[in-house]
Amino acid sequence: MIVLKPITPDRALIFKAVRLRALQDTPSAFGSTYSKESQLTDDAWIERSANWSNDRSTGYLAFDEEQNEEERADAYCGIAASYLNEQNPQKAHLISMWVAPDHRQSGVGKILIDAIERWATHRGAHTLLLTVTSSNHPAIAFYTRLGFSMTGNTEPYPNDPALIEYEMSKPTP
Ligand SMILES: CC(C)(COP(=O)(O)OP(=O)(O)OC[C@H]1O[C@@H](n2cnc3c(N)ncnc32)[C@H](O)[C@@H]1OP(=O)(O)O)[C@@H](O)C(=O)NCCC(=O)NCCS
Repeated sequence: MIVLKPITPDRALIFKAVRLRALQDTPSAFGSTYSKESQLTDDAWIERSANWSNDRSTGYLAFDEEQNEEERADAYCGIAASYLNEQNPQKAHLISMWVAPDHRQSGVGKILIDAIERWATHRGAHTLLLTVTSSNHPAIAFYTRLGFSMTGNTEPYPNDPALIEYEMSKPTP
């Protein structure tokens, strides 16, 4: 069974390990990079975890309770986070979405998105927004399946001038 564990300062080093796995696994999916984030100190990860667990932002790690002892390091199999827009808190941004390759297409991503939607609704947001790299067809298919649609807004992708980022949105329940 998959359970979600909030990202909090006491899980900062687990968060670090999962996030670095994500950045190494799918570099073109994210605005940040492994080379940048692997330089962060443990104190910086603790601070970041605190910044992701307050009234305006949240983060979750997906944990597979069925992994056995030898596989324990890989039991954390996904991540997603969100924050309220500073100017307009009726908008929430979904960031850092990732599911480990061996757990894909088994519902973990949907569990994470559902939790982010519940949090955003609880905080009064009406819309969930995200950006996805133009080459990331699997993620675009995933978000579309879960009810997101293109807003038509785009921005440059910082790590590759050949790509852009599409904005997608979904009304929260
Ligand atoms: C995109 C990603 C998060 C999807 O996670 P996942 O756990 O595999 O998704 P789920 O199993 O919860 O799928 C939910 C629905 O989306 C569909 N879906 C998921 N991946 C899909 C794909 N590659 N192509 C088509 N549909 C897909 C599933 O079939 C499912 O639909 P269903 O309810 O009809 O069965 C995962 O592939 C991933 O981490 N990719 C690399 C990182 C990344 O690109 N992150 C996004 C950054 S913007």
